[in-house]
Amino acid sequence: MSDLLERLRAGLPPEALITDPDVTASYAHDMASFCEAGTPAVVVLPRTVEQVQHVMRTATALRVPVVPQGARTGLSGAANASDGCIVLSLVKMDRILEISPVDRIAVVEPGVVNAVLSRAVNEHGLSYPPDPSSWETCTIGGNIGTASGGLCCVKYGVTAEYVLGLEVVLADGRLLTTGRRTAKGVAGYDLTRLFVGSEGSLGIVVRAVLALKPLPPQQLVLAAEFPSAAAACDAVCRIMERGHTPSLLELMDRTTVRAVNRMASMGLPETTEALLLCAFDTPDPLADLAAVGELCTAAGATEVVPADNPAESELLLQARRMSLTALEAVKPATMIDDVCVPRSRLGAMLAGTAAIAEEYDLTIGVCAHAGDGNTHPVVCFDHHDPDESRRARESFDAIMALGLELGGTITGEHGVGVLKKEWLARELGETGVELQRSVKAAFDPLGLLNPGKLF
Ligand code: LAC
Ligand code: ZN
Repeated sequence: MSDLLERLRAGLPPEALITDPDVTASYAHDMASFCEAGTPAVVVLPRTVEQVQHVMRTATALRVPVVPQGARTGLSGAANASDGCIVLSLVKMDRILEISPVDRIAVVEPGVVNAVLSRAVNEHGLSYPPDPSSWETCTIGGNIGTASGGLCCVKYGVTAEYVLGLEVVLADGRLLTTGRRTAKGVAGYDLTRLFVGSEGSLGIVVRAVLALKPLPPQQLVLAAEFPSAAAACDAVCRIMERGHTPSLLELMDRTTVRAVNRMASMGLPETTEALLLCAFDTPDPLADLAAVGELCTAAGATEVVPADNPAESELLLQARRMSLTALEAVKPATMIDDVCVPRSRLGAMLAGTAAIAEEYDLTIGVCAHAGDGNTHPVVCFDHHDPDESRRARESFDAIMALGLELGGTITGEHGVGVLKKEWLARELGETGVELQRSVKAAFDPLGLLNPGKLF
């Protein structure tokens, strides 16, 4: 241990090292519940690429595991420490190095907060679309590590679609450059894409070239109330089938709506079984909302209310973004699923989830990126009650099994981490896992990078 600290100190300024156990303990885990987390030996907060290289060379020399971290807003335990590890926090590498309106790219360090980048590029008439609910605090490095999504994905896609190139410090300290800053590029295997969603298991992203879009007009949101989740899902199918491209299409079930009202007195309609939020950032959003409103009514909506100004729209989005936090307050503990199914199967997914809640006698609130078929069933339970805890765990698994049965994936955007690692093999199959392990070994032969995650 003293050898480790001594070697780290040789290439890092004193303020970049934290050894106080009370402080290092606060870096032990991300926001996922019920995921194992060890005790870090030390937390390092480098500010330069060279310092990251020094950390990795030291780790390799001494065979010490390294757990890379952003803002720890992740929901699968992928940033959780392992015993005796170096926690490598990238939050101090937070510079926006370049914004180019002609090339429509930004070059950033990994610790840049999503909302900070978003606002900075807005000033150039550009947008960086990926917008996880935690966008005010989560970092771009974390977004890349977990391949995160958000509300905008139904129109603009996920993080992977915006990462053009990377600089990555490898396990042994070498610096790898991947990808491009050009509009096109097909030179060799797409290593950039491989790093997106690799959960810190292949290397440390120290710089990213990100694609930007022109800033769209401000979006307007419509809220539609439905007497059943099935009717709301029917509306989603009609909207997509007719060729509409909303800038978001979100669903909150009754449990979620009530939880949000309880937390923030938002005045959302408590009697609705499912609230659908649909937005357009098109040149004539009111016309698009009217067309979608009609489709909602045809699918059985009892009330269709277009927000008539951006402020009201923003309020509805805030309600949606706080859904998870609000559901976490329903019971002492929660487990958050992230199953994504083909959107044509969304109705079956929600009906099946309701059946699971009944079978296991539990409250399971659901918010969903409905337009993506990406559901977040939140199992609410009391972890002091062993029987309820067992039922919660089983229902959490049953929801993933249902997602796979419906042709979906166990995780649309939160990642595998430690929370779902037993499930990865069920989705990928034996050959898939074998090949993924070989890829891991090619990048990290000593198995030092974020061990115990993914597989
Ligand atoms: C959301 C997070 C939980 O959709 O992914 O709010
Ligand atoms: Zn989500």
